[in-house]
Amino acid sequence: MPFNVYVTRRIPEAGLEILRRHCDRVEVNPEDRVLSRDELLAAVRDRDGVLCLLTDTIDDETLAAAGPRCRAFANMAVGYNNVDLAAATRRGIMITNTPGVLTETTADLAWALMLAVARRVVEGDRFFRTGRWTGWGPMQFLGHDVHKTTLGIVGAGRIGTAVGRRSVGFGMRLLYTDPHPSGELDRIGARRVDLDTLLRESDFVTLHVALNERTHHLIGRRELALMKPTACLINTARGPIIDEAALVEALRERRIAGAGLDVYENEPEPAPGLVELDNVVCIPHLGSATEATRAKMATMAAENLVAALRGERPPNLVNLDVLAAQS
Ligand code: DGY
Repeated sequence: MPFNVYVTRRIPEAGLEILRRHCDRVEVNPEDRVLSRDELLAAVRDRDGVLCLLTDTIDDETLAAAGPRCRAFANMAVGYNNVDLAAATRRGIMITNTPGVLTETTADLAWALMLAVARRVVEGDRFFRTGRWTGWGPMQFLGHDVHKTTLGIVGAGRIGTAVGRRSVGFGMRLLYTDPHPSGELDRIGARRVDLDTLLRESDFVTLHVALNERTHHLIGRRELALMKPTACLINTARGPIIDEAALVEALRERRIAGAGLDVYENEPEPAPGLVELDNVVCIPHLGSATEATRAKMATMAAENLVAALRGERPPNLVNLDVLAAQS
């Protein structure tokens, strides 16, 4: 079909195959890196559609650069805080995301961080590799138990719920915040509370809200001060949900016990002082990073894009208003 699409970085083959099957021209950024601003603006010019990533800023200028024939930008991520939805709707461009396929994988990673921080797994590994370990010691690397403690889930959407489900095996008490009650979490005995109560009572606080104006710096100095000095904070959602400078301060002064971070306020840069701390585990935005899940995300993003190009309603359309504007 005479479609001309651009893919902003190499993605799993499963997604590229779908695009090649349905489009005349599929151009992929040949380098495995984020395009510079100028490169992105030039690359999207005169495309029918673009498959983009959470590291691409899709603002009004990018959408304008794509030109009037552009039907859709398919974001290969569940989060779409990198896209100006209002501008896309105004320009009649569909925006899609990849919900569902990364839920369990991201929930697994939140648990990996929780266990790693509480049981000092990364610190222990770093120490072992130095060759300084002289054998078992009764006071070495004492951490915190995870089982039978209280887990606080901020945001009981798909991923938050999947994290909560896993807590049953650990015999944990479960608290959550969400504008709406969660049937599934309620059924396993969770209690819906306000954020301050959750922060005061939880041993582990894990963030699973989308990033928007309401959740920017949701966890700042005041909220960190409410947490127990023995508590750990986990973030696999989006970095700016935490005021990272305030978190560094709280960790440095041991006002909370630890943090496990997959996402950062200014990726890829950590806040000053963060990586010098030994009570934080920092990994490079790996939430959905398994072979199977990334292949599913690429497939889903490609299918969304192809549907939009064919004039169909893509299965994971985010800016639904665009349909009203088109009809
Ligand atoms: C998403 O899809 O939003 C994730 O952050 C990708 O890993």
